Amino acid sequence: MPSNTTIDLSKIPTRTLFDGGQIPCIGMGTFGSDRFTPEQVSEAVAGAIRCGYRLFDCAAVYGNEDKIGRVFAAAMADGTVRREELFVTSKVWNDMHGRGDVLISLAQTLKDLQLEYIDAFFVHWPFPNYHAPGCDGDSRNPDSVPFSPERFLATWRQMEKLVDAGLVRYIGMSNMTIPKLEVVLPHCRIQPALIEMELHPCFQQRELYEYCVGKGIQPVGFCPIGSPTRPDRDKTPDDVADIETPEVQAIAKAHNVHPAVICLKWAVQRGQIPIPFSVHEAEYLSNLRCTTEDPLTAAEMETLAGAERNCRLIKGQVFLWEGAKGWEDLWDLNGIITR
Ligand SMILES: NC(=O)c1ccc[n+]([C@@H]2O[C@H](COP(=O)([O-])OP(=O)(O)OC[C@H]3O[C@@H](n4cnc5c(N)ncnc54)[C@H](OP(=O)(O)O)[C@@H]3O)[C@@H](O)[C@H]2O)c1
Repeated sequence: MPSNTTIDLSKIPTRTLFDGGQIPCIGMGTFGSDRFTPEQVSEAVAGAIRCGYRLFDCAAVYGNEDKIGRVFAAAMADGTVRREELFVTSKVWNDMHGRGDVLISLAQTLKDLQLEYIDAFFVHWPFPNYHAPGCDGDSRNPDSVPFSPERFLATWRQMEKLVDAGLVRYIGMSNMTIPKLEVVLPHCRIQPALIEMELHPCFQQRELYEYCVGKGIQPVGFCPIGSPTRPDRDKTPDDVADIETPEVQAIAKAHNVHPAVICLKWAVQRGQIPIPFSVHEAEYLSNLRCTTEDPLTAAEMETLAGAERNCRLIKGQVFLWEGAKGWEDLWDLNGIITR
């Protein structure tokens, strides 16, 4: 019998990927930003494995894969979890898109995570534009460039080779748009199984979401709670806090849960895979448990569909190139810009 800090794994829904492979319907994010140390994040990963999380969203740029790797190794050594039960993802950072660099990046990630393969490897951003971690939102790198289909596909070819080599089960993209996907998907020998995108009640990206589902690509939703405690450099005065909207608050009251939990129930019932972050056991436990009990009604899902505010939180302005008009250019809102 599961204790009150362990969820019955058989009750956690899974999603089916394009080839029939299974992935949990929810995962844990591991980006501590500048609020939590790698030790705090990896301790949370250890606790999350114990309570039943099996999907972990990692990335080289989060600067904590070595600490998380120790946790994975210990959990497998003491029999808490078997490797094949875990679904571990990571991402190649923007400064590692060059020829041969993707393999080098993966090799470091495998070493750090202490794994022989990872389940999914993402291209973190579709640009090779580097910015120093934690840098100011207004800072620009003069070497930054707009999207180039040829450059992106050269990176994708390296990703495909990792699948061929058995080092990665699936490959994915992140922070893409429909115009970019239209250009690159016809040229992918191995299609992306997953695409990470910002998804929360106030930013539902309906068109992109439907487009991916229509192509057999599973959407993974980051900032699923609306990243309420993100750094000030990532906030603008127009941003809406999902957990403070009347729609989310009223439904939270009806279910007697924190509004964060409503955002996650909505995400899972809609069909994306949310990857909420928290280092607090009570929070990450309730985030997982909410996928197994007390679902939202059809009427509540409808109400939350109406919570859309077109509020993109991660605008990505630090990746802009010289001559760009504003962050909208990264998302092709004024037409696709390529060079
Ligand atoms: N692919 C990409 O480019 C990309 C971009 C951004 C993020 N991501 C991934 O997505 C993950 C999640 O994004 P995020 O951390 O920005 O946003 P988020 O998951 O929407 O928000 C996380 C915050 O929500 C609060 N929270 C979590 N569970 C809660 C609960 N049950 N009750 C109350 N508050 C709760 C926590 O605040 P407190 O800490 O104050 O408790 C936590 O710091 C990241 O960790 C990362 O893995 C990927």
